[in-house]
Amino acid sequence: MKILQTSPIPLDTKSLLSSLGIEVEMGNGMMTKEEIAESIKGKDGIICLLRDKIDADVINSGADLKIIANYAVGYDNIDINLAKEKSIFVTNTPNVLTDTTADLAFSLLLSSARRIAEADRYVRRGDFHGWKPDEMLGCDVNGKTLGIFGFGRIGQAVAMRAKGFSMRIIYTGSEDKNIEGCEFVDFETLLRESDFISLNASLNEKSRHSFTIREFLRMKRSAIIINTARGALIKEDDLAEALEKRIIRYAGIDVYEFEPKINEKLLNLENIILAPHMGSATEETRKRMAEICIESIKEVLINKRRPSSCVN
Ligand code: DGY
Repeated sequence: MKILQTSPIPLDTKSLLSSLGIEVEMGNGMMTKEEIAESIKGKDGIICLLRDKIDADVINSGADLKIIANYAVGYDNIDINLAKEKSIFVTNTPNVLTDTTADLAFSLLLSSARRIAEADRYVRRGDFHGWKPDEMLGCDVNGKTLGIFGFGRIGQAVAMRAKGFSMRIIYTGSEDKNIEGCEFVDFETLLRESDFISLNASLNEKSRHSFTIREFLRMKRSAIIINTARGALIKEDDLAEALEKRIIRYAGIDVYEFEPKINEKLLNLENIILAPHMGSATEETRKRMAEICIESIKEVLINKRRPSSCVN
């Protein structure tokens, strides 16, 4: 048996799988869609990254494919319906990155409120000449309202952190989750009442561009938006306009609409923190994600069972 792995991940997958009779063809982490479509021919499985587009062209080239193991919890890069039609399992890496990603969301929230990245640039430029009453003023977090857009595992983990900061928590999502101290509201209420909005929803055709200039205009002028989910939940040009015209106060952004391309307009703004899609980026979590991918490959190719993290 053979699999394609589009990038090294933090486990020696070649040795681990070769002892089970599975050969791994290793990509360099920068494979184009065309290269993946070519290399997937004759492979029984693939371990891929969220940057790899596994669409109909790729899936149709993989006539022998039995499993697509995505090294991520989100799987909007994969045509899961076509995979299902072809009886190919699609798996992700749930649970292990929940707290890690929530930590990053909360770091961006605090750093945006207190302008940490700006302050660092300020000091390095030599602009700090001693304590002043009006220097680098940010805004408080305690007692403020946090609106969570998408109240799944990660959204709820962000809420847990916010409770420790005495925040009021409101959320939108598919349903009322009946969680103590968290109030289910409609989208307009979330926009109107939140001081901070954290995006933790998955990306699909319904959620794409949930935040455009229309929504920014309905938010408080003092509002701060945090996105550690998927870039295309926000229309980036509109975010740039909202920040530039101070329609909202600040943004903490880890994910981009046209990743890895970063909107030039965002790059030129001071009131935004830009991170390189690093929600799950800790040594421990990235290793656990790798273990889940290997487990899923083994379940399907060796044990011939439906893997526990199957999403289709
Ligand atoms: C995921 O796993 O989907 C995250 O975006 C990684 O940071």
